[in-house]
Amino acid sequence: MNFTWADRMERLGTESAFEVLAHARRLEAEGRDIIHLEIGEPDYGTPQNIIDAATRALNDGATHYTPASGIPVVREATARYVAGRTGVPTSAENVVIVPGSKNILAFLLLAVINAGDEVIVPDPGYPIYRSLVSFLGATPVSAPIRQSNDFRLDVEELSSLVTPRTKLLIVNSPANPTGGILTRDDCESIAKLAVEHDLVVLSDEIYGRLTYDGEHVSLYSIDGMAERTVLMDGLSKAWAMCGWRLGFGVMPVELAKRMDTLMINSSSCAAAFTQMAALEAFQSPESDAAVDAMVADFRGRRDLLVDGLNRIPGITCRRPAGAFYVFPDITATGLGERELQTGLLEEVGVAVLAGTAFGPHGAGHIRLSYANSSANLQRALERIALHVGAGAVPPA
Ligand SMILES: Cc1ncc(COP(=O)(O)O)c(C=O)c1O
Repeated sequence: MNFTWADRMERLGTESAFEVLAHARRLEAEGRDIIHLEIGEPDYGTPQNIIDAATRALNDGATHYTPASGIPVVREATARYVAGRTGVPTSAENVVIVPGSKNILAFLLLAVINAGDEVIVPDPGYPIYRSLVSFLGATPVSAPIRQSNDFRLDVEELSSLVTPRTKLLIVNSPANPTGGILTRDDCESIAKLAVEHDLVVLSDEIYGRLTYDGEHVSLYSIDGMAERTVLMDGLSKAWAMCGWRLGFGVMPVELAKRMDTLMINSSSCAAAFTQMAALEAFQSPESDAAVDAMVADFRGRRDLLVDGLNRIPGITCRRPAGAFYVFPDITATGLGERELQTGLLEEVGVAVLAGTAFGPHGAGHIRLSYANSSANLQRALERIALHVGAGAVPPA
């Protein structure tokens, strides 16, 4: 049959990481050797104690629907975990457990955004923010994130973007795709702005455990922010659990009740055994040790990649303080970001993403993920150097 698509489908974007991955897989099927630096997920396995907890839960009968917002003990444990990390008194009623933190973003937009509203989104930023805002008929307004400002939001510039139609501000620290983090001063200035203009704030802290320099400051922890902030987080990145699909949001109780209804109308609940695995992730010292070991390893890889990229003529790369991405400036190679994305993949088998996949302000940059082994990062550096005409990577 000939489907007639709803108008809104025209406005729905995508994540080009998935498209580049599909292209890379096709090349691999033809026998090519591809180094995957396009991926947004840890290459580590989930810690064994968490897998064991999930298996135990399945054997103990965690195979049924759960309450829409999550199993009460899991909501309680999540509240304790967040309170412990932020110092903000948080109760189970503030917590909504979802199958992947993306749902918190979607549900918040569905709950508070009308067509015609404006939502300030980081640019470059996670493409799903912009996609879902447009999908709902609202307008995404770019808040530029620049390398010259260490990939932090420029709060003065941010305040100039607020209009009477601005409803929501989306903030992501540590950030995808830049790895930038907000300082405490930044968070306090953003909080002041949000209070002054009565804005709801979505604070996407999915990379909150992955910081290497400086502290991770949660906007939720800043005075006066708990009542207007939705803290979005999940198990995907910190515990290497992307495929488990488990995320959570922390928010004012009246909003949590709306999200409960949205869960009833969509997924019903997150899978019971994954929720039980979250208990183990939040509560066991073994899980904490696994996160710490992964962070230490990521730090070494970050340094290897940043140092290597900076030795390639034409590429300049900041040392990001968090997440597992670098976002080098490639303008001096004389190649555009799309051209480089395609050339690196097709000619030398290195999968990366063009900066513009994350918004117009990503022009002149590419994103590389260091969720890959040091040996592969080293091989990728050699191939990139070759491709941009620099020959071998000059020694340190
Ligand atoms: C900034 C950001 N937010 C949210 C997500 C989605 O995470 P989840 O697996 O919890 O849906 C990602 C995944 O790449 C991300 O990069």
